[in-house]
Amino acid sequence: MDIRALDDTALADDVVMRDFYDVNRRAQLHGRLHAPFWEFGEFLGAFRSTDSGERQELFAAYDGDRMVGNAVLWSFLLDNTDKAWFHLSVDVPERRRGIGRALAQRLEQTAKDDDRSLILADAILPFDDRECHAHQRFAAACGYELSNYEVVRHLPLPVPDEQIQEWIDEAAPRHAGFTVQTFVGAVPDDLVESLCVLLGQLAVDAPTGAVDFDEEAVTPQRYAEMVATTAAMGRARYETVALTPDRQVVAQSTLAMSLEQSTKVYQWGTFVHREHRGHKLGLATKAVNLRAVQTMRGDLTLVITQNAETNNYMVSINERMGFRPIEVAAEFVKRL
Ligand SMILES: CC(C)(COP(=O)(O)OP(=O)(O)OC[C@H]1O[C@@H](n2cnc3c(N)ncnc32)[C@H](O)[C@@H]1OP(=O)(O)O)[C@@H](O)C(=O)NCCC(=O)NCCS
Repeated sequence: MDIRALDDTALADDVVMRDFYDVNRRAQLHGRLHAPFWEFGEFLGAFRSTDSGERQELFAAYDGDRMVGNAVLWSFLLDNTDKAWFHLSVDVPERRRGIGRALAQRLEQTAKDDDRSLILADAILPFDDRECHAHQRFAAACGYELSNYEVVRHLPLPVPDEQIQEWIDEAAPRHAGFTVQTFVGAVPDDLVESLCVLLGQLAVDAPTGAVDFDEEAVTPQRYAEMVATTAAMGRARYETVALTPDRQVVAQSTLAMSLEQSTKVYQWGTFVHREHRGHKLGLATKAVNLRAVQTMRGDLTLVITQNAETNNYMVSINERMGFRPIEVAAEFVKRL
């Protein structure tokens, strides 16, 4: 078995990337066959897009010509430069042969050579076996500590429009003077700066367990790249924002919806500025955004979200909206 770094030529090669996706898919869906998983086109769009705030490096483990495992390492470039994080997959029939450990060691060495002192990874675990599951044991065997538990929740769609209206009506008196608006794709130029500030603060204010994150530098360039990445994935990006009378963005919620065959909707961030909490802007932006995607596509089946188990405010909004817990995403950390 040898581990190869995949260069830009490999990234541009659909055959190599199909192997990468298939190994990933089999590894991630093992034991959870019906879990939502992104389509090949969504994966390609994401991996071939640029984010000027992160370096992405791909590695694959080969047995002869056969890809048996793979990994992606992301290294923050503008902030949190002490950290890197990764995804690691080993094909199901190839497990317990040391491939996972060898890939993890390669990633750790790469991060160390780049002066990173913290390396992070995550893994999906079933609720009832989260303490003893194989992925938890693998992480421990490789010297990782648990840093955080997030809970993955699903909301079956459609949600009746009268129910959405009820949430909007309940929230409205608490934020009189603010307007709530939805944009598909990029928000207008005059809103980009205050939206970027919010997007950058999410990692600081959302609970992240044992690891503290510095504010993220979300520049207008990175924001434009995020919008372009979403389009490259064949998804529409729905951004609902709450605006002050002088058009400052003080709350936001993002949904990404497939424009192709997938009927799944991905909830990305929801964030209310520190100075504007307690006005039900979280519920309001989420409800308005949900209505917008349901209006656009009547066949949507599910919204998928994930939050820290300890994020009481966000979790209570999600429970209120009917999201149900499905599984756990454990986050692990190792000091290099
Ligand atoms: C987790 C994963 C990467 C492990 O890959 P792997 O190639 O089977 O791991 P290794 O063979 O290198 O195992 C290294 C050590 O981890 C532990 N381990 C791995 N799988 C285990 C299992 N099923 N039960 C108990 N311990 C296990 C063992 O201590 C093992 O050493 P040993 O075989 O000498 O006892 C693989 O199961 C996978 O792809 N899972 C889905 C993706 C994922 O969750 N990745 C993130 C992990 S943080």
